Formats: sequence, C-alpha cells, structure tokens
Amino acid sequence: MNDTINHINFDVESIRKDFPILNREVNGKPLVYFDNAATSQTPRQVIDVIVDYYTNYNSNIHRGVHSLSQEATDLYEQARLKIQEHVNAKYNHEIIFTSGTTHGINLVATGFSSLLKPSDEVLVSALEHHSNIVPWQMLCERTGALLKVIPMNEEGELVIDTYENLLSEQTKLVFVNHISNALGTINPIETIIKKAHKVGAAVLIDGAQSCPHIKPNVQELDVDFYVTSAHKMCGPTGVGMLYGKEEWLRKLPPYQGGGEMIAEVTFEKTTYADLPHKFEAGTPNIAGGIAFGAAIDYMNKVGFDVIATYEHKLLEYATAQLLAIDGLKIYGTAKEKTAVISFNIEHIHPYDIGTILDKMGIAVRTGHHCAQPIMDFYKIPGTVRASFAFYNTKAEIDALVQGVKKAKMMLS
Ligand code: ALA
Repeated sequence: MNDTINHINFDVESIRKDFPILNREVNGKPLVYFDNAATSQTPRQVIDVIVDYYTNYNSNIHRGVHSLSQEATDLYEQARLKIQEHVNAKYNHEIIFTSGTTHGINLVATGFSSLLKPSDEVLVSALEHHSNIVPWQMLCERTGALLKVIPMNEEGELVIDTYENLLSEQTKLVFVNHISNALGTINPIETIIKKAHKVGAAVLIDGAQSCPHIKPNVQELDVDFYVTSAHKMCGPTGVGMLYGKEEWLRKLPPYQGGGEMIAEVTFEKTTYADLPHKFEAGTPNIAGGIAFGAAIDYMNKVGFDVIATYEHKLLEYATAQLLAIDGLKIYGTAKEKTAVISFNIEHIHPYDIGTILDKMGIAVRTGHHCAQPIMDFYKIPGTVRASFAFYNTKAEIDALVQGVKKAKMMLS
C-alpha cells in the first residue's frame, strides 16, 4: 500500500522489505505481527550491525590498547551519543546503558534507598506496568516510605485533579509511564512533571512504550529520569538506557559493584569512576549497544513524524473496524493514545481468541499485559491486545478483523 500522509509518500511495502521476519509464515499463513508493544521487529540494517560486530571486531571495550578494542569502544560510545541526541540530553554522561527499562527503574529505585525516610511518600500511577510498580514497593519496604496511587478513569486516563491533591511536601518521587503498554494512553507527562517539581519531587518516566513512536525531549520536559528499552524500537533485546539529570546521577550511589565502575580499588577503600561508568559495572551488551544506535538511525530515517501519523491512521481504521463487531469492547479510549487496541468479546476468554488468531498466523498478546491493577480496575482477567507498528498495513488489519469474527463464531 502506498499511502500519502501529510504530503509525504510513505511506501510501507518498501519499509517491509527491510524486515526479513515479515516474509515468514506461521501455521501456513503469512505472519501478521501485531505484538509490537511486547517487542518490535528488527530491520536488516540493525541485524547487519550485530553480525558485523561478531564477525569483524568482537572485543571488550574501555579496556584494551589493541585496535579491535578501540574500534568497539568508539562505536559503543558513538551509540551513546546517538541516544543522547535522540532524547536531547545535555551531556552524554547522563546516558547510562542498561539491560532494559526494568534495569533502569531498579537502578534508580535501589539508589533512593539511602535518600528516603519513613515520613516520605512516593506516587505511582494506576496505569503502570509491573516493572514500574514492584521496584517502588520494594523501595518502600526498605525505607518505610508510603506508596500512593494516582487513579485512572474508565477511559484509561489518569485523574489529574486527584494527582494534584496527592502531591504534598512529603512527596519525594513520582513514577508514570509516558504511554500505557496495556491501553496505549499517552499520559500528560509535561503537566505531571511540572506539578511534581512544584513540591520538590523528582519524576521518573517509563518510556518503554513511547520511544517507538515519539522522540522525547528530556531537557524540554525537565524530567529527572527517563528509561527505555532498545527492543521496543527496532533494536535488540537485552539493552536499554537510563537518562538521569547529572545532579541526580551524582547523588545516587552505584547500583552494582564490579569492573569498569571503579576509579581505584584497594582492600581498604574503593573509589568510583565518574559518570556514566559509575553505573556500568561489568562487560555490557556491546553489540546490543551499537545496534541500539543503529536502530535509532533507522527510525530517524523513516521519520518519527511520519511514523506517528501513519500509525494513527492504522489505529483509527482498526478501531472503527473492530467496533463494528457485535459484543466487542475496547478498553482504553483516551483522547490521546498510540496504536494499541485492547479488547474483549462478551463471554469469550481473551486467551481463546488469541489461540485461534495464532492459527491464522496473527500474533497478538493476551492476558494482563504485566499490568494487573488495570485489569482489576475493569474487573476482567485480561484482554486481547493488538499493537501496531509503522511496518503494519491496513490489509493486515482486515485479516485481524476477519480473524476476530471467525474466532467469535467458533467460540460463541
Ligand atoms: N511490556 C511488554 C508488553 O507490554 C512486554 O507486552
């Protein structure tokens, strides 16, 4: 399909040629991949970078005088600069390589153990993934601080008036995702950050779901911490980044001890390396880090504005087609949302729909999507979730709609 979006000719068929996996069949049918919120697919340009690393310059970084090590170090540090530029961080040492979003959140949560006291409060939103709930619960258990929840409404939006009332001098930290993985809601993080700063609280934004669709501007947002994973945005698994404002990263203690994060080690006392290495103990995922940079290059080449516009058209089309199915209910109808549709059909378990769709080669996620509190809010066990990417097509949405109709017929 050739699609004209904002006068840009977006040739989705040529984009699809970059993704070898999109050629495969599943259960004898062409793969329709609608589980992009769980992980995105990887273009040839990124796969090639990983193969090139192991074929031509596999070596450890920051350690050797030899050429291979220097080549790997240069490319790894170039990837850090690409991430810095991508999120518009002021300094490259504010970008910490992690193994993914969960690692970044745990790094910050553990660091705050020594900074919180029992009378302190931390706020988390009702829309969070378990990875942005459990580390903070663990932090509260360690410190005695109180965890409070910013509630959501029926549309799957956060209730900002209540958030304002929850904020006080006691609030030290606020954690919210930029975009809900289960519902696709885009949260008003500018407002959330501004209001938190008024009471002196720091804010961590979970950007796992936003980075595939939106270029965050951490300086403009004035956010304290922003975390994401490469595998949600055409990169490999096992690598991600934590952005932290320099002043916060200096204040937090190291997360793990080991090689690379030290300045000097004696049995009496160890001094730590400067940022960013203070938080990067051990040999990192070097190929992954370099490939993360390549994924950012790839997505920038496609263009984030084009991606957002095209995906929005897919969302509108799929929403209209699915809502035409009798008994189908969509959860998450926020005014601002990305191309994620969570739905159920009356009296049918989401798992059963997912299993039938898989037989037709259509990959969706079913279950609670690591966001049980959202399912509890709606009093459901889970949903079927179709999440779209810029390499998906309207024809694939038609296949999904036909598949859902067939599943409904078979299961009713
Ligand atoms: N957080 C990922 C998802 O939403 C795994 O599917």
